[in-house]
Amino acid sequence: MANTILFLRIIISISFFTIAFAFDPSPLQDFCVADLTSPARSNGLPCKDPSTVQANDFFFSGLHIPGNTTNPYGAAVTPVNVIQVPGLNTLGLSLARLDLAPNGFIPPHHHHRATEILTVLEGSLEVGFITSNPNYKHFNKVLQKGDVFAVPIGLLHYQRGVGNANTVVIAAVNSQNPGIITVPNGVFGAKPGIDAEYLSRAFQLDRKVVEQLQANLKMATNVLLLSIIALSFCYIGFAFEPSPLQDFCVADPTSSARVNGQACKNPALVGANDFFFSGLHLPGNTSNPNGSRVTPVSVAQLPGLNTLGISLVRIDYAPSGINPLHTHPRATEILTVIEGSLEVGFITSNPDNKFITKTLWKGDVFVFPIGLIHFQRNVGTKNAVAIAALSSQNPGVIGIANAVFGSKPDISSDILAKAFQMDKSIVQQIQAKF
Ligand SMILES: *[C@@H]1O[C@H](CO)[C@@H](O)[C@H](O)[C@H]1NC(C)=O
Ligand SMILES: *[C@@H]1O[C@H](CO)[C@@H](O)[C@H](O)[C@H]1NC(C)=O
Ligand SMILES: *[C@@H]1O[C@H](CO)[C@@H](O)[C@H](O)[C@H]1NC(C)=O
Repeated sequence: MANTILFLRIIISISFFTIAFAFDPSPLQDFCVADLTSPARSNGLPCKDPSTVQANDFFFSGLHIPGNTTNPYGAAVTPVNVIQVPGLNTLGLSLARLDLAPNGFIPPHHHHRATEILTVLEGSLEVGFITSNPNYKHFNKVLQKGDVFAVPIGLLHYQRGVGNANTVVIAAVNSQNPGIITVPNGVFGAKPGIDAEYLSRAFQLDRKVVEQLQANLKMATNVLLLSIIALSFCYIGFAFEPSPLQDFCVADPTSSARVNGQACKNPALVGANDFFFSGLHLPGNTSNPNGSRVTPVSVAQLPGLNTLGISLVRIDYAPSGINPLHTHPRATEILTVIEGSLEVGFITSNPDNKFITKTLWKGDVFVFPIGLIHFQRNVGTKNAVAIAALSSQNPGVIGIANAVFGSKPDISSDILAKAFQMDKSIVQQIQAKF
């Protein structure tokens, strides 16, 4: 009971902390791979010499390995952000693997620079978030394998393992460095401490209780959060997608209003299911010429994503299946291999057109910078599965072959023959195929 009251008071206090939110800055070049050794200080991290950039700068391995949940929280966070993948610098996207033992929990916290979209790979997860002052409405839901849930930028939220087995989650966030403010630690663990008298008034608690809380939270060797807090050493943000002007703007597909994105549903009618999608554990049908299938979870499937600048897809690949060359005009992509083995690659822009490619295995993560042409191909003997998060509610896809040779009406074959320096009859043959 006392704990519940304390929790509620902590929640109320959050209005002190949530002020200005924004997304990461738009990139000014193909990529700016972080140079972790440079003494220069910038918003984000300084860039490495582009001529030394390699596929490994966009790569992380080991996300299939469970985190160690033997700690007071019964939880572990394995971050994959700009520190682990320097290629994420300036791209506005990162992810983490969460492991929760039965009853393990991630304490109430918020990411001041990011919306979060999480997918349950194993087990059962209770997730909840609380809207801002003055309503403090609490949305919560129990998720099972294959379920997806979105937590709007800056809102206080928590996760808890509620099954009797371990729970595994992949959580993507639309910042290279989302930041984390854990409310109990922020309030009672501040260094130097916030005046106990002030806190006892703010929380209407006995001063002795406050002092006890401060002592506990300053001492706590916070295994779970150390790795993340250590990363919060720079950065403010701005703008891939327009920053939200309110807690959320759940898409109303029935509205006839035309706006950038979609019109908002009446907030009084919003429920946890607006932030929810289920079925991402189900394989897509790969019986098609690509030998692959993309199952999207963007604003059309999950209306709560409207204005939040993030979404994800599941991709299934039959052996030798490809996700052919394409670009996302509005998003960077961060892809995790869940099963199988993929060859992936992207091509930098003019004049270098450098081809950056790598073979990925289960647990590997790879980044495709916004707008660059890229592909994936199953190079294993079994089916492959990936979960890819994208830094847009509606990233868009431009299939290169489809756009060039399959436009409606056709681009004149003269133009294409000159552009590709090939015979016009060959161009016409290709056009006939698309
Ligand atoms: C997990 O962490 C605990 C506590 O730090 C430690 O005693 C244990 O050896 C670790 N287990 C593994 C498998 O690393
Ligand atoms: C997969 O798609 C193919 C081609 O459209 C169809 O014939 C087949 O029945 C589908 N398989 C399943 C399991 O839905
Ligand atoms: C194959 O991939 C291209 C490029 O992404 C896409 O435009 C096309 O719809 C895909 N075909 C099928 C059958 O999924």
